[in-house]
Amino acid sequence: MNKKDGYVFVWPIGTRIIHWMMVLSFTTAFITSFYEYLLHDHVAFGFIFLIIIIYRIIWGFIGPDYAKFKTFKLKPSQLKHYFVEKIQNRWRKIPAGHNAASSWFTVWALTVGTVIVISGLLLYGIQEGKGLFRFLNDDYSQYMILLGYIHKYASYLFAAWAVIHIAGVMVEQFWHKTNMVFAMITGYKKTDGKDTKVKPYLSFFAYSIILIAIGTYFFIVSSNYNFLTIQKYTNINYKEIKPVFYNECGDCHKIYPPYLLPKKSWTRIMGALDNHFGEELTEANISKSQQSSILEFLVANSAETSKREASVKIMYSLGIRRPKAITKTPYWRETHKHIPLSVYKEKKIKDKSNCIACHKDFDQGNLDDMNILYQR
Ligand code: HEC
Ligand code: HEC
Repeated sequence: MNKKDGYVFVWPIGTRIIHWMMVLSFTTAFITSFYEYLLHDHVAFGFIFLIIIIYRIIWGFIGPDYAKFKTFKLKPSQLKHYFVEKIQNRWRKIPAGHNAASSWFTVWALTVGTVIVISGLLLYGIQEGKGLFRFLNDDYSQYMILLGYIHKYASYLFAAWAVIHIAGVMVEQFWHKTNMVFAMITGYKKTDGKDTKVKPYLSFFAYSIILIAIGTYFFIVSSNYNFLTIQKYTNINYKEIKPVFYNECGDCHKIYPPYLLPKKSWTRIMGALDNHFGEELTEANISKSQQSSILEFLVANSAETSKREASVKIMYSLGIRRPKAITKTPYWRETHKHIPLSVYKEKKIKDKSNCIACHKDFDQGNLDDMNILYQR
C-alpha cells in the first residue's frame, strides 16, 4: 500500500538533501571559480561536491531500487522510445524511478562530475602546490595548463548539462503536468509503483555523508591551512638568504621575487641599470661586484627554475619575448585586466608595480591567492 493515493514515494529525505547539496555546491564552486582570491572558498565548496559525487556512485550500487544503476534505462532504444512517447503523448505515464533521459543524464553527470573533482584535486596540487597532491607540483608542473582546461571545460559541460536537466523538468512540470518539480522536494512522484523503503543502515550512511560534507566545508573555511589545503610554498626570507639583493634592490621599491621573470629578462635589467625605469643606478649606488652577485642570484632563481604557477604561466605566456618588467608580461596583464586603472591611482597603491599593496608578503615571495588584499 502506498502512503499517498496516486503518488509513489520515490526520493527519501536523504536523497533529496543530497540532490540539493549537489546543486548548491556546484553553483557556488562555479561562481567562486571566477575569482582568484576566492580559491579557498571554491575548494571548500568543491569538497562538498566531491563527497557527494563519491556518495552517489556508491549509492548507485547499494542504494534503494529507484537509485540503483541496475534499474537505469540506458538502451538507445529506450531513449528513443522515451522521446517519441514524449512528443506523441502529452499525458503518458511516467516511471517511478529514472526514465531513459534521466538515466543517461545521471550517468553523464556522474562521469563529468568525476572528471571535475579529479582534475580539481590534481590542479590544486600541481598548480597551487596545495592540498593532498601538493607533492605533484615538483614533477608535473608542465601539465597545469592542460589540467586547467580539463577542469574548466568539464565544469562548463556540467553547467550546460544542468541547464538541460532543468529545462527537461520544466517541460514535465508545465507541459506534461507530472508535478516533477515537487518530486525532489516532497519525495513523491505522481505515478504508479511501489513506495521506496530505505534500510536503516542506508539512511545512516546517507546522513553520515551529509554531515561529513558539511563538516569538511567548515573544516576548510575555518582555517587558512589544514591537511586538505596546506601549501608547499612558504615565505622566503630574501633578507637573510641574499642580503645584497634585498638591500640594494629593495631600496626604492620592494624587491620583486626572482621567479617572476626569465633569466634573459634579469640579464637585460641588470645590463641597463643606468636607465632603470627612468632612474640612473651607477656603481656608486651598487658596485660592480654587488651587481654581478645580484645577477647571479636572480638567474639561479629565475622563472625557468621554478615550478610555481606564476613562473610556469609567465614563461608560457612569454613565448620568446623577454621583457624588462613583470607588468609587461601577457600573464600579468591577463590576471590584472579586471582591475580598473583608477585603482592604481589610489593613495595606498599609487602604481601597478607596487605589488605588495595588493599582495601581502610579496617581498617574501608569497603569491598565495589567499594573500590578495585587493578585492573587486
Ligand atoms: C633608485 C631606485 C631603484 C633601485 C635601487 C632599483 N629600482 Fe627597480 N625600479 C625602480 C623604479 C622607479 C621602477 C618603476 C616601477 C615603479 O615605479 O616602482 C622600477 C621597476 C623595477 C622592475 C619592474 C617592475 C614591474 O613593473 O614589473 C623590476 C623587475 C626592478 N625594478 C628590479 C630591480 C632590481 C633587480 C633592482 C636591484 C638591482 C632594482 N630594481 C633597484 C627604481 C629602482
Ligand atoms: C591593485 C591591486 C594589485 C596590484 C598592484 C598587483 N596585483 Fe597581482 N593580483 C591582484 C588581484 C586582485 C589578483 C587576482 C585576479 C583574479 O581574481 O583573477 C592578482 C593576481 C596576480 C597573480 C596571479 C595569481 C597567481 O596565483 O599566480 C600574479 C602572479 C600577480 N597578481 C602578481 C602581481 C605582481 C608581480 C604585481 C606587481 C608587479 C601585482 N600582482 C600587482 C591585485 C593586484
